[in-house]
Amino acid sequence: MLEEDNPKEVMCSCSGTTRGMIIELVSQGKGVDAISRYSGALTGCGGCEWDITELVNTLMAAQPEKS
Ligand code: FES
Repeated sequence: MLEEDNPKEVMCSCSGTTRGMIIELVSQGKGVDAISRYSGALTGCGGCEWDITELVNTLMAAQPEKS
């Protein structure tokens, strides 16, 4: 596992949302909005927006299409 894939890495310091939490939520089919509502990510300073959006997009692109 790459250092940058550490699931304990805090992606949003305002809410304490970790990479692993985001990976889990994306695997449940949640998008950025749902992840924000669920975890509180993006509801503080907004400084994590780019990183989280990028991570979610990357994870979604890697997932098989759900229909
Ligand atoms: S770091 Fe995520 S809202 Fe501030």
